[in-house]
Amino acid sequence: MKPLHLERCLRTVEADKAVLCSAARVPYYPLVVKKARGSWVEDADGNRYIDFLASAAAVNVGHCHPRVVEAVREQAEAFMSYTAVYMYHEPLVCLSEALCRITPGNFPKRVIYGLSGSDANDGAIKLARWTTGRSKIVAFQRSYHGSTYGALSLSSLSLPMRRRMGPFLPEVYHFPYPDTFRPPFSGTDEEIADYHLDLIRRAFADYIPGEEVAAVIIEPIQGDAGILVPPVSFMKGLRSLCNDHGILLIAEEVQQGFGRTGKWFGIEHFGIVPDAVILGKALGSGLPLSAIVAREDLMADWDAPAHCFTHAGNAVCCAAAYASVQVIEEEGLIARSEEMGNYLMERFRALQDSYPLIGDVRGKGLSIGVDLVKDGKTRERHGEAAAKICYQAWQKGLLLSFFSGSVLRIQPPLVITREEADRALEIIEEAMRDFLAGRISDEVLKTVKGW
Ligand SMILES: Cc1ncc(COP(=O)(O)O)c(C=O)c1O
Repeated sequence: MKPLHLERCLRTVEADKAVLCSAARVPYYPLVVKKARGSWVEDADGNRYIDFLASAAAVNVGHCHPRVVEAVREQAEAFMSYTAVYMYHEPLVCLSEALCRITPGNFPKRVIYGLSGSDANDGAIKLARWTTGRSKIVAFQRSYHGSTYGALSLSSLSLPMRRRMGPFLPEVYHFPYPDTFRPPFSGTDEEIADYHLDLIRRAFADYIPGEEVAAVIIEPIQGDAGILVPPVSFMKGLRSLCNDHGILLIAEEVQQGFGRTGKWFGIEHFGIVPDAVILGKALGSGLPLSAIVAREDLMADWDAPAHCFTHAGNAVCCAAAYASVQVIEEEGLIARSEEMGNYLMERFRALQDSYPLIGDVRGKGLSIGVDLVKDGKTRERHGEAAAKICYQAWQKGLLLSFFSGSVLRIQPPLVITREEADRALEIIEEAMRDFLAGRISDEVLKTVKGW
């Protein structure tokens, strides 16, 4: 393996360390991005990498898709920003019509915008409280919803996020999310689903009056927890529970939305319709944009200015998002996500037969988790393997990361080709072999912190 040439990258990383606050970064390796196209990234020293991270699932249509770049250029030449709090613009209306059309639910909807997945989660809490007149929110353990106070109050993934940060929003109750790979007992998916639903049912009977709960906010596939796909019966049961108590079911689609899972939205895998969806990340194809799309009756007369930001629904971001919807539809990227996802999942499962290090391969479409374990029986997480394999993959030309300590994150742009995917798989297998042969130094662990 030829070592990477990294002179400029290392210089920039050193300079970065001197002026940037560490709280905003989870480091993997010293990659300074210079250029990105489709499923490829080039660093400041000219090294090229296949991208299995897609800027954290934020560029589903691929980096710098020409159609998106053109939309951005055209809009930027017309005007970059005029706050939508006071004035109106066409990209905002075009995009909102598209979002009302593509989101689940055959009913009238309304849209409200923000700048990040985090603020959209805050907005969803505010909307749910306002519209129901109730205060309590049900969320799930090991979820990540973002860094603003509302989103952080919903999240429960990592201690450093919450340590010395309290108090958080009151009346947010966290329940366990079904994990069928590391379940609390060995049982069928239905039994595991029922157990988890029962925890909520019992809480509603004992100490959380269901009629005081405004919303259940849930990722239909729990992303940063390591791509946990809950049983269908769990999601259906949750919908029924919400119906029984007049609670809003809000699908948090920031990471799983926009074709990532082989459907427009992750919730569509479960045959239920939420009352609202929370969008971010890939919505803007790399530009900062978030949205809440909800049933019209919930939002139609929300008092102003209950939720507004100067730059929310920025014209350039909306133009990029609208072009992205068109690209996804015209290039058939949803079907492609399903097809390439199935292909990758099959290939990883084949690798699993030869490498017991791979404990589980799970996901939908191009949202795949490859869970590394020390022991197939105990399913103990192999954090060291995940860190070293990601580092080694980078050295060999693949941007790979992990979450939940041990789960390789397979979320490439949806435009990735079979050849690129095959090369990436080859790199991952080589990196696994290097790890198992003890060829990756412990020094790597000082650099790779991971999620
Ligand atoms: C599921 C989910 N929700 C919310 C967020 C927060 O989004 P943002 O970082 O844009 O605020 C993330 C980011 O990783 C996420 O994965």
